[in-house]
Amino acid sequence: MKNSSLSEQCQETLKLNDRGTHTVPAPMVYPHQWLWDSCFAAIGWAYIDADRAKQEILSLLKGQWSNGMIPHMILSDSPDFNKEHGMWRSWVSSQSPDKLSTSGITQPPVVAEAINRVGKQLPKIHRLAFYKKTLPPLIKYHQWLYNERDPHNEGLVLQIHPYETGFDNTPPWMHQLREHNLPWWITMVEKLKLDGLVNLFRRDTKVIPANERIANLEALVCWDTIRRLRRKNYDIEKILHRTLFAIEDVAFNSMLVRNNSILKDLAKQAKIILPDDLLVHMASSEKALEDLWDETYALYFSRDFMTNNLLREPTVASLMPIYAGTISKDRADKLVAILNSSKAFWLKHPVPTVPKNMPAFDQHRYWQGPTWININWLLIDGLKRMGYANEATALKSHTLELVRDNGIWEYYNPLTGQGLGSPDFSWTAALALDLLEE
Ligand code: GLC
Repeated sequence: MKNSSLSEQCQETLKLNDRGTHTVPAPMVYPHQWLWDSCFAAIGWAYIDADRAKQEILSLLKGQWSNGMIPHMILSDSPDFNKEHGMWRSWVSSQSPDKLSTSGITQPPVVAEAINRVGKQLPKIHRLAFYKKTLPPLIKYHQWLYNERDPHNEGLVLQIHPYETGFDNTPPWMHQLREHNLPWWITMVEKLKLDGLVNLFRRDTKVIPANERIANLEALVCWDTIRRLRRKNYDIEKILHRTLFAIEDVAFNSMLVRNNSILKDLAKQAKIILPDDLLVHMASSEKALEDLWDETYALYFSRDFMTNNLLREPTVASLMPIYAGTISKDRADKLVAILNSSKAFWLKHPVPTVPKNMPAFDQHRYWQGPTWININWLLIDGLKRMGYANEATALKSHTLELVRDNGIWEYYNPLTGQGLGSPDFSWTAALALDLLEE
């Protein structure tokens, strides 16, 4: 298949998932607006219709809470989804918006990246107007991340639910949840092997094979964690009071570091002065990211906020400081060596979300092995900026080949290339389009 027809397919997918002012991730299982999905979708829309791309970001910012949080989901107002509204109940927080129903947590902060990419496709005069409109809420969001999520002023922000990382069922988080957030009734469900009953309530496993999705027990623990956060009205002080569970995720913080630096650049262009305290926090994040380095593994790891212990379980998150772009050449070389290792990450269709030589590797299951296009895209971008042109080119051609040969899927089997999860997936389309166009 030629490049032009892949580009057409990508454009058709975005149009299929277009809901006017925002793009749904995929028609079957993802009917709402998600934070990082919309950021990636906007990057693709910028090549098709720059105004539509702007709209995507503006509609995402409409969900912002009064404390500055951009929620990870803005829920569709269709009555078909009352169950989701009832699950999140954003109205329990006085900070949530009046007119929209949202989730009560956030997602990886890649908004600056999206604003920058969209801005690049606009004529200068429109670009600056767009920055002037979007930067104030974006600055407020980054301030919120530090004010609420960095209570010890360490430079690393913490996450309170695996969904905040975007890597929903990633093994280190699942192990921490099991250890610290497993209520007695879920233990009973496990003992009595009743977890199959969960399928009665799941929409995704009705249309996608269950072995490609989050396991039932893990889904239950995630749901129960939402319930706990909701009972504390999504108030971070109450949540952190006597909790055992919060993680400074290495991928989330790597994305924050990169997006801080993009934000600084955008503010300079728009002649907006960033608050001093935010600049101090931003500088501290670059340094603090290095505290996540483990010399023995030669990898970065997420850290348990409560114990300060690194969660030494390699996943693709360990490589994400390449995207941050601030790490030393020496450490980047070590990450690239592991990325290139055919035992770990450089499989037939790289980059798997869990390296193949880890016991948790599962070629089919969601964030426990499959290759995701947004992760490849972030790594390609980081590799380029850090001076690994050959590796970036190789990963780009593998990524485009994967999509071209198999179609526009949510994720892919890293050994066979088979498309998994949901077909017609927006960010796969948007980011493949960006890789084709650049
Ligand atoms: C899943 C993914 C998450 C994504 C969402 C919508 O929850 O794990 O990263 O944002 O679906 O596509």
